[in-house]
Amino acid sequence: MAATDLERFSNEEKRNLSLGGHVGFDSLPDQLVSKSVTQGFSFNILCVGETGIGKSTLMNTLFNTTFETEEASHYESAVRLRPRTYDLQESNVHLKLTIVDAVGFGDQINKDESYRPIVEYIDTQFENYLQEELKIRRSLFNYHDTRIHVCLYFITPTGHSLKSLDLVTMKKLDSKVNIIPIIAKADTISKSELHKFKIKIMSELVSNGVQIYQFPTDDEAVAEINSVMNAHLPFAVVGSTEEVKVGNKLVRARQYPWGVVQVENESHCDFVKLREMLIRVNMEDLREQTHTRHYELYRRCKLEEMGFKDTDPDSQPFSLQETYETKRKEFLGELQKKEEEMRQMFVNKVKETEAELKEKERELHEKFEHLKRIHQEEKRKVEEKRRELEEEMNAFNRRKVAVETLQSQSLQATSQQPLRKDKDKKNFFSLPTACSITSGRYVN
Ligand code: GTP
Ligand code: MG
Repeated sequence: MAATDLERFSNEEKRNLSLGGHVGFDSLPDQLVSKSVTQGFSFNILCVGETGIGKSTLMNTLFNTTFETEEASHYESAVRLRPRTYDLQESNVHLKLTIVDAVGFGDQINKDESYRPIVEYIDTQFENYLQEELKIRRSLFNYHDTRIHVCLYFITPTGHSLKSLDLVTMKKLDSKVNIIPIIAKADTISKSELHKFKIKIMSELVSNGVQIYQFPTDDEAVAEINSVMNAHLPFAVVGSTEEVKVGNKLVRARQYPWGVVQVENESHCDFVKLREMLIRVNMEDLREQTHTRHYELYRRCKLEEMGFKDTDPDSQPFSLQETYETKRKEFLGELQKKEEEMRQMFVNKVKETEAELKEKERELHEKFEHLKRIHQEEKRKVEEKRRELEEEMNAFNRRKVAVETLQSQSLQATSQQPLRKDKDKKNFFSLPTACSITSGRYVN
């Protein structure tokens, strides 16, 4: 269809026609209900609150069942998210319920990073959904949606004010999830203190710009009850799976030596209000808000980060192909730049190493020359010594020959003149004795 035809068509006035008889499309809502019931629903609750604050007890009380409970220790080195999924059925409605516990929340000495694992977990669920949406063959129909629909934030019933950890965590989460703040173990705080505590909490949330989930007031059917309930926030709840006999009825309650706190008694606590708002009236709105507000925000930021953007209605329509090409070019350009940088870095490194090696070679050469000089000097000295020794040896040999000659002459003389024997003998021994001192070979 040409653009002008399209414009004319959309500008044409729509005419109201009446039907001659029953056609049947009034069954569309029923078809929708039937389809949804067949498909089943999923609902994911994130429980954030310090260890032992009563998270598991409240979940058991809310859904009137016993979920797996595993007590957390107070020695977790960091906050850890633990999701557990259950299949529940009420009448013919199937609910895939996931309860995610922020295990170890508030137990670390340094709590600066406590919110991070929670934010990361929520983002990961959004990312998984986005990846499924971006797939060529999507199967969102039977996709297990794990996005968090509500965060029940358990506030410790101190009666004072919110802790900075609460404010920081809620602030970090408020754009990602519907937060319903609740005061846990409300039976441990007096009525007047509770009233003041609620006002204090709300004013602190407002002054710190923390956006909590507001029950919707745009649907006439629930507008009144929702606006009344908005004024009761944060709900002060008591959880218990214990049944106590009150009158002739068994009710869920906490029994104390001085009396019984009934969970479902509205003058005792806000448990019924919470159940009404969370499950019976606004469960679908929580699911919808998650998709249209929080997930949408995540998706928009993520796609913008990836380079996609919407153009204004007057200019060319948004083209996936063009965005892809631009992004590809940008990426290739960056890759080339990085490659060039790495090449340059490599060349510089080689040059540096070469210079270092040359310097080392020069040093070695100098060392070698120095050693060579020392060696030659020593060789010269040894040579000189050798010469001196040789001269000494020659002199000694000469003396030795002289002595031997003298000896033989004197022997000859002795044999010829025996009478002068004693006298000559004396003369004879006087000379070699002197020689023996020099040579060391003659011993008297
Ligand atoms: P972890 O999962 O270990 O962090 O604990 P949790 O937050 O799930 O608390 P859990 O439900 O296990 O309850 C801890 C203790 O608090 C139990 O002894 C409960 O009986 C008690 N408790 C739970 N809810 C309430 C409540 O509303 N009031 C009071 N007074 N005690 C409660
Ligand atoms: Mg627990």
